[in-house]
Amino acid sequence: MPQEDEYPAGSGLRFFDGMLTEILVLVLPAMKKNTLSFGTVCIHNKQQSSFGHSHMEAIFPTSTFSYDNPEQLMNLFQGTEPGYIYSRWDNPTFHYAADKISLLEAFELNNEHGNQLKLKTMLFSSGMGAISTLLMSCLKPGEKLITQGNLYGGTDEFIHKILKPLQIDCVMVDLNDTEKLSAILDTSTDIRMMYIETPANPTLSCYDLNTLAAIAKKYNLITAADNTFATPYLQQPFRYGVDYVVHSTTKFLNGHGNAIGGALVFHEDDDKQTRFHEVMKLLGNNANPFDSWLLSNGLKTLELRMQKHCENAMQLAQFFSTHPAINKVNYPGLQSHPDHAICNKQMRHAGAMMSIELFGGLDASKEFIASLKLATLAVSLGTVDTIVQHPASMSHVKMSKAQREQYGILDGLIRISVGIEHIDDLIYDFSYALDKTRA
Ligand SMILES: Cc1ncc(COP(=O)(O)O)c(C=O)c1O
Repeated sequence: MPQEDEYPAGSGLRFFDGMLTEILVLVLPAMKKNTLSFGTVCIHNKQQSSFGHSHMEAIFPTSTFSYDNPEQLMNLFQGTEPGYIYSRWDNPTFHYAADKISLLEAFELNNEHGNQLKLKTMLFSSGMGAISTLLMSCLKPGEKLITQGNLYGGTDEFIHKILKPLQIDCVMVDLNDTEKLSAILDTSTDIRMMYIETPANPTLSCYDLNTLAAIAKKYNLITAADNTFATPYLQQPFRYGVDYVVHSTTKFLNGHGNAIGGALVFHEDDDKQTRFHEVMKLLGNNANPFDSWLLSNGLKTLELRMQKHCENAMQLAQFFSTHPAINKVNYPGLQSHPDHAICNKQMRHAGAMMSIELFGGLDASKEFIASLKLATLAVSLGTVDTIVQHPASMSHVKMSKAQREQYGILDGLIRISVGIEHIDDLIYDFSYALDKTRA
């Protein structure tokens, strides 16, 4: 077994390989098993602090790193010696969570040579930090992005308010309409990148990653997927040949709603990584040690939480689908959802996000939310507690009514991020609030 100090920060994969070998020799032959399970990878991180034999990962709450001799710091600046200089550029705390996200997104995936896929992850101050760095690094003035019209609001605003004035334009199309998509790509020479968010807000539309990655390859486009709603436990975009994955780690990856953060995941040998680092450094949208530590803590229970989130969501969706106060349930785990087949094809379970459309419009929505005793009214998602929000007046308030309605965001629509409370308590809470809307 190698010693911990043989593995500098950021080398989680190598350390993990070392641990894996030891487990294979000692334990696994008897179990006839040659890889660690997803949930075990979530829990273990043998690239932990070598300070004081700490069992758990350490936090390095420092803005800069000090050195005894000038040569060493000069070498670091020249890039001839590895090490840390300044926390806006990098900090050892980031690597616990970053390396784990790489392992989980690459879990049981091989590269084109049949070897374990190796990924790298950079952490950011927010999901928007990761998305903005990716898009600004991949696109130049005069180039275009093609994407869906129902993106997360912040991404949509970034594209229109920040990229557009920089002469980076965007074409929006229903990415499930592959005929239309191909027709656009046939006639356009300046589209450089395809950006996919699946499942997408708030009606949980799913887009076929395999089909889209193949189309993108045909037209020589870079592909990126926002995997926030699914997490690598439910869906691994790299399996289908997507080039980049982004996350708002604020959501399910952290899981406890106590930190904002983002992640950008790419191939270990990706030639844009220097540019990503440069853009992050200069925009200053870097992660911070405490939030990264909270993320690495949250990641340990990812599998367990996701299983319970999904189990609760399926039961709630079934309960809602027969309730007389509800016109429509948008949950891709239900056969009635238009993208049920896509969800089944690429997701392990249908996730924990759903939306319901109440018969009574805005008045019913207000009454329903006000009557909930357990579920929390808040705009985020992916936390252990159940969260509800009203897209038409909150997350999508900047959209025109006509545009909203085009994407099924009616006044009676409520988005629900299903938590891991006991299902009986959730059904009781929602049942009480739904009855109030009919009173
Ligand atoms: C799908 C999706 N992507 C990205 C983001 C942006 O993440 P953050 O708020 O961490 O910047 C969000 C936020 O809600 C989101 O829902």
